[in-house]
Amino acid sequence: MSVVALDLGTSNAVAAVLDGGRPTVVPLLGGALGIPSVVAIDERGRWLVGRDAKAQLLSKPDQTIVAMKTFLGRDADSAAFRVEADELGYGLGPGPNGPMATICGEEISLIEASGLLLRELRGQAQDSLGKVLDGAVLPVPAYFTDEQRQAFADAAYLAGLEKVWVVDETKALSSLLSARRSTPSREEEKTVFLYGLGGGVFDAALLEREERGGLEIVATSGEDLGGSRLDRRIAKHLKTAFWQRYGEEAAITDIGRQRLLEAAEAAKIHLDDEDEAFVSLPCLSNGSDGGPLDLESSLAREDLIRLTGDLILQTVEISRSVLRAAGLDASEIDGVYLYGRAAKSREVQAAIARTFGKPAVRLPDDATALGAAVMAGA
Ligand SMILES: Nc1ncnc2c1ncn2[C@@H]1O[C@H](COP(=O)(O)OP(=O)(O)OP(=O)(O)O)[C@@H](O)[C@H]1O
Ligand SMILES: [Mg+2]
Repeated sequence: MSVVALDLGTSNAVAAVLDGGRPTVVPLLGGALGIPSVVAIDERGRWLVGRDAKAQLLSKPDQTIVAMKTFLGRDADSAAFRVEADELGYGLGPGPNGPMATICGEEISLIEASGLLLRELRGQAQDSLGKVLDGAVLPVPAYFTDEQRQAFADAAYLAGLEKVWVVDETKALSSLLSARRSTPSREEEKTVFLYGLGGGVFDAALLEREERGGLEIVATSGEDLGGSRLDRRIAKHLKTAFWQRYGEEAAITDIGRQRLLEAAEAAKIHLDDEDEAFVSLPCLSNGSDGGPLDLESSLAREDLIRLTGDLILQTVEISRSVLRAAGLDASEIDGVYLYGRAAKSREVQAAIARTFGKPAVRLPDDATALGAAVMAGA
């Protein structure tokens, strides 16, 4: 059996395998190192998956399914679910087989939608590697419930996989770090802290070196908190600025809302390297005379901190709770590692350096997929 790691992230989906003993991200169509975790229906009623689906998100947010990982296997009747689901551009509600999306009058369960995505990811990985991949290791956040894990497994079986292992992302990362332990400096690390911030998930874990040299997970915690939450905060701020200028009667459509989110994400990433980001969204709405109303705004680093600082603080608090559960002080941690693309943020890096009294090491972008590939090969 050939086993592949399939990391279905909130924003991106990535495949990885062991290549000559080394965990490697599988290059997909066009050399891409992953596909967007997006599924959609086009004009002619055809299903689109990955890059093609993401391409129409801006123009048809009501026909495009995003953030599947946030809702898969969740109780669609709960109040918490509704609050999150109301932020989406497409309709999502309860169904016989878990949360169900309704787009263009078609109903599709999120398990089916995720199955389409995993099928595409697996297919592209098979084409790239030139062999059939019939087993998969799927990393999920350590705090996911059995129902969420089962929904992931069901999606993978729908994608045609014969054998599926759903594993903790933190376990995958500890496998990755353990596999790298030949580096002498790493051997000295007796205690390791993992801080992961992705598109929709925050995960923290404390690991201790066992006698045989591998890393053992001692405590974990996490919650649904990722980069897209930051984007929503920034988008709301931009919308408020727009309404202050033109009044709230300047209606913002679903498309306008999606444009605000994309501009917010771009500004957030820009502010990693620069101190100011300019946002220009021509014709975001129309005036009472039908004329275009443009959004022209700028966002300084201080604005970003003011708008999203509490979310980062929340991740620091969760990190501290993990340390407390393990009975350790931040100063007793030998190695601090960051993973997930949202952990590239300057603010995150600064907050972690302050908390632990030392800079953290950034793991590769797709560390969870790479770690799952180590597990797949074990
Ligand atoms: N340079 C950057 N600075 C800050 N945030 C970034 C940067 N690059 C990407 N991001 C954010 O990282 C998030 C995506 O991260 P990643 O690809 O690791 O998530 P994912 O694996 O899809 O989701 P998850 O693991 O949470 O399920 C997005 O919110 C994106 O805006
Ligand atoms: Mg991820």
